[in-house]
Amino acid sequence: MALSAMKTKPLSEQVAIVTGGGTGIGRAFAEALASAGGKVVIASRRTEVLRRTADEINAGLGAERVFPYELDIRVRAQVDELAADVYGRWQAIDVLVNNSGLAVPETVDNVTDDGWETVMDTNLRGVMQLVRTVLPFMRRNDFGDIVNVSSQAGKHGYADVPSYCAPKFGLLGYAEALRDDVRKTGANIRVFNFCPGLVDVENVRPDQTPRDGFVHVANMARTLVYALSLDRNVVLEDINLYAR
Ligand SMILES: NC(=O)c1ccc[n+]([C@@H]2O[C@H](COP(=O)([O-])OP(=O)(O)OC[C@H]3O[C@@H](n4cnc5c(N)ncnc54)[C@H](OP(=O)(O)O)[C@@H]3O)[C@@H](O)[C@H]2O)c1
Repeated sequence: MALSAMKTKPLSEQVAIVTGGGTGIGRAFAEALASAGGKVVIASRRTEVLRRTADEINAGLGAERVFPYELDIRVRAQVDELAADVYGRWQAIDVLVNNSGLAVPETVDNVTDDGWETVMDTNLRGVMQLVRTVLPFMRRNDFGDIVNVSSQAGKHGYADVPSYCAPKFGLLGYAEALRDDVRKTGANIRVFNFCPGLVDVENVRPDQTPRDGFVHVANMARTLVYALSLDRNVVLEDINLYAR
C-alpha cells in the first residue's frame, strides 16, 4: 500500500499497553509514551508497584495518562480481560509493548521444571497469548505497533541462563512469523524487537551515571519513541543496543 494511504496517528492520540511497566525498562517506556501525550496502561502482577509508578508519572506530567492494571501474563483470562477493557474504554490499542520478563539463573544441568516453566510461560507463551488477543483489535482499527523486548541473550547463548535464552530466542522467531503475517494480510501493523545488552534499572534518574558496561535506561525510552515515529512503512526490525 502507498505510504500516503496508510493511516497515521500522532503519539499524543495513541493508547499503549506496556507489560511490566511498573519497573525498570517498562517504566521508562511508559513515562516516555505518556510524556509524548499518549495514554499508557501499565500491566503486571504487583498492583502497589503499578499504582505508585502511575501516581509518580502522572504527578510529574500534571495529567492522568498512566493507568495501572493487574495482570499475570501467564493467565489467559487476565490477558483477554486486559485487551477487552482497554479497547472498551478507548476504542483503540495502538501500541503493545511486550516488556514483562524474568530470568531464573539455573545451568543446563540444574534447570528445574518450575524454573523453566515460569520463564517460558512469562517470556514467550504469555507474549504469544497477549498478541493473539490484541491483534484483532489492531486489525479492526487498521493501526498498531507491537514492540517485543528480547535481549542480547536472544541472539547469544549464556551458560548461566539457558532457560532465559531459549524464550528470548523464541520471541525473535515468533516476531518474524508475526511480521510475515501482518505483511501478508496487508495490515498497517509494525513489529519491532529490542535486543538490549545490560540496561541499568537502578541508576535511572537523568543525572545518574549507569554502572560500567550498562546502558542508561533513558536510551531505551528514546529509541522506542524514535522507532514509533518512523513512517508507517518503515520498521526498525531488531534494535541491538548495548554499552560499548
Ligand atoms: N535490564 C537488563 O539488563 C535487560 C537486558 C535485556 C533484556 N531485558 C528485558 O527487559 C525486560 C524488562 O526487564 P527489566 O530489566 O526492566 O526488569 P524488571 O524491572 O524486573 O521488569 C520486569 C517486569 O516484568 C513483570 N513481570 C514479571 N512476571 C510477570 C507476569 N507473570 N505477568 C506480568 N508481568 C510480569 C514485573 O512486574 P511484576 O513483578 O509486578 O509482575 C516487572 O515489572 C524483560 O523482558 C527483560 O528480560 C532486560
